[in-house]
Amino acid sequence: MKEMIKLTAINKSFGDVSIIKNLNITIYQSEFLTMLGPSGCGKTTTLRMIAGFESPTSGEILLDEKSVKNLPPNKRKVNTIFQNYALFPNMTVAENIAFGLKMAKVPKIERQKRVTAMLKLVQLEGYGKRKLDQLSGGQKQRIAIARALVNQPQVLLLDEPLSALDLKLRKQMQIELKRLQRKLGITFVYVTHDQEEALMMSDRIAVMNQGHLEQVADPQTLYEKPQTRFVANFIGESNIFYGKISTVVDDLAEITVENGYLAIKTATDTINKDQIVNIVVRPEKIKLSATEVEHFHLPAKISEHYYAGNVRKTVLKLPNGMELKMNTPSEQTLLPVGKEVFVYWNPSDAILVKSDSNKIFKTIKNTDFEPIK
Ligand SMILES: Nc1ncnc2c1ncn2[C@@H]1O[C@H](COP(=O)(O)OP(=O)(O)O)[C@@H](O)[C@H]1O
Ligand SMILES: [Mg+2]
Repeated sequence: MKEMIKLTAINKSFGDVSIIKNLNITIYQSEFLTMLGPSGCGKTTTLRMIAGFESPTSGEILLDEKSVKNLPPNKRKVNTIFQNYALFPNMTVAENIAFGLKMAKVPKIERQKRVTAMLKLVQLEGYGKRKLDQLSGGQKQRIAIARALVNQPQVLLLDEPLSALDLKLRKQMQIELKRLQRKLGITFVYVTHDQEEALMMSDRIAVMNQGHLEQVADPQTLYEKPQTRFVANFIGESNIFYGKISTVVDDLAEITVENGYLAIKTATDTINKDQIVNIVVRPEKIKLSATEVEHFHLPAKISEHYYAGNVRKTVLKLPNGMELKMNTPSEQTLLPVGKEVFVYWNPSDAILVKSDSNKIFKTIKNTDFEPIK
């Protein structure tokens, strides 16, 4: 696959504040890559460096396999859709879309042809003569997309393009944008802080945390095999245990935690006795038993049930106050609140994660409960 964007050892500081830390990522042709992370983690800064509005403090950016070090933004085959669309309010829809073509001195006939094609692409045929203030938020969004695509960029950078829209329209535009990207085969670098949006739209997601890349993978891998505690927390819901490996037999490890012990099945070369580890268990993997299950000792009390459409959400309380989240399909009967149970899971459903992306199994401050001594 052709490498469309390659960031190598990118660092970016503003003054003496380091914002992006040793970022390495390759984005392929026709890929839909999403940069996902909480507000302030450096997503916009990264996009702006790709677009050429900021320069990295160190490191190299390749676009289409060529260094863009001395290439100004307008010479890069990259277009950006900003959060606020940045449309020209005094121009018509057609004038907005044609603006870049006019700057590039594309002849009028060709301009009109391309604008018409773009309006069709974003399902706004016949809207060319309208003024911008006659358009809804969703329509303006589509005009911004049309304007960004009209000069056929190889790469489209999208910075939280749907965040101004209400939920229903946002959901609709997510599907439309994804369809458009597939149809055109353009590389999309999409920025959002919304994990659901990222999971739904992306081929791969790059999860960022305080300026460094935690993990980049396809949505399913991120959910099923998060490599770090941060990713496990940020993508989907998780229960995170903190403990020490007490025994390893073949690929089954027993881990002592403050509340008792539990088990995980994982590749033996990643686990050693006495290692301090974080274990992630997704709410839908939690099981309950009236009696103890081999390799597990996690007594708990059913604390609350919540209705949530297709699942019931249950809160389980462990003796030290730690709460576990459990999801059950709605058609299953629930045990009553107050009932005492034993928690377990299929050991291969638990995931071993690093405390952070740099250090394997570093001991960390656990927010759920105090680590075992
Ligand atoms: N021009 C700038 N000067 C100083 N600090 C900046 C500048 N641009 C961004 N920052 C800081 O860099 C960090 C990352 O910002 P940004 O890339 O906008 O994050 P995100 O898009 O993930 O919310 C923030 O702490 C922000 O305040
Ligand atoms: Mg931003």
